[in-house]
Parts: sequence; C-alpha cells; structure tokens
Amino acid sequence: MRIIDIAPSILAADFTHLAAEIKRVEDAGATYLHFDVMDGHFVPNISFGIPVLASIASSHRLINDVHIMISDPLTYGPQFVKAGADIVTFHYEALKDDEARFTVIEAIRKAGGKVGMSIKPGTEVTVLVPFLSQLDLVLIMSVEPGFGGQLFIKDALTRIAFLRQYIDKHGLHTKIEVDGGINEETADLCKAVGVDILVAGSYLFGHKDLAARLQGLQRL
Ligand code: DX5
Ligand code: ZN
Repeated sequence: MRIIDIAPSILAADFTHLAAEIKRVEDAGATYLHFDVMDGHFVPNISFGIPVLASIASSHRLINDVHIMISDPLTYGPQFVKAGADIVTFHYEALKDDEARFTVIEAIRKAGGKVGMSIKPGTEVTVLVPFLSQLDLVLIMSVEPGFGGQLFIKDALTRIAFLRQYIDKHGLHTKIEVDGGINEETADLCKAVGVDILVAGSYLFGHKDLAARLQGLQRL
C-alpha cells in the first residue's frame, strides 16, 4: 500500500525526553525527522542548532530533514550536513538573488547533503522553477515560519498543485513537502493535490494516541 512520508517536527517534542520522543515516532512508522532551526533573525524565534543535531542525528534510522530558518544558509548549511543532516532545506527569502541561491545549493551538495528550498506563504511559488532540477526537495510553508501550533494557510494547496503538475510534466524527482498546521483534515487536502511528505509537530507530539495519529496521516 502506498503511504505518504511523515516528518514529525521535534520542535513540538518534550525536550526532557528527546530520545524517547524520537523512538516513539520511529516506532510509529515515521520516515523523516524534521529539525527546525531558527536563528531569531530570519524568524522571530530561536530553537536549537548544531550541537543538538550532532547529538541525535545517528541515534535513529530516520532521514534527518533539517529546515534552516536562518539568514546565513551559506555558512551554516554545510555545517549542518557535517553535524548529521541528510537534507538541508534553506529559505529562498534568505538570499538577495538567484546566483546566491545557486551558490548555497552547491555548497550544501559539496558538503555531501541533499538540498531543499522553502518559501514562505507570501512568496510566489513560480520563483522556485529555476531551481527545481537542482533540488531534492521543495518545502511549502503552510504557516508563517517561526512557531509550531499555528493554523494551516489554505493557499498552500494551489502551490503544491502547481509544483506537482510542473515536476511531473518535466519528469523531475524533486519531492514536495508541506509544513505547518498539518492534522488529519489538512493532510487529506494536501494529499489530494499531490504532496509527498507531511511535516507535523503539534498534531503528533504531546498526544497519547501519537501512533494512531501518525498512521492516520500516512494513509492515502
Ligand atoms: C514552523 C516550523 C514547522 C512547525 C510545524 O516554523 O517550520 O515545522 O514546527 O509545527 P505544527 O505542525 O505544530 O504546525
Ligand atoms: Zn519546519
């Protein structure tokens, strides 16, 4: 049975029991672990960084899906790869032009990582087109980046649909990931328009029925 990949966001996890929380989502069937890095400059919040990733990256078998909401992805993107990131996803809006964006893609790839690019809700989805053939993943933000527990912004659906159609038409292998406000209802909407990976934080962590919730999200 085809399932959708689930990337639990540990921003919503109980940090006093982080290893156990990671094991819970791994045992429940997650395939990615979403690691939200915030620098208090690109977004109005500070989360965690390289030492935390280095301490957990090899403690599980999930794909370390590192979402860097930071102003300097060129400097730190490669460092997150070295700390254990399998994929580093940086923000289109963090760079001043496309040349700088291509430079970040190359730097992360040269460090040995897969590369993703993310756009905020207010950024036009077509800006991603020049990069798609060079990206392993595109991350559509369905909330303003910076905090978990926000409400899903429905406009994300047209952006996912546009990317699904473009990627399939051009025979690309770029995965489409959506992030923010994902629950059973919004997950169904995203699946209907062709998403590949669902990030979920507050819908999963902190709930006794986490495994059932995660498996509900997986079902096509
Ligand atoms: C927000 C982060 C999201 C967030 C998801 O800036 O990028 O990954 O943690 O949390 P929920 O699923 O609670 O919206
Ligand atoms: Zn995220």
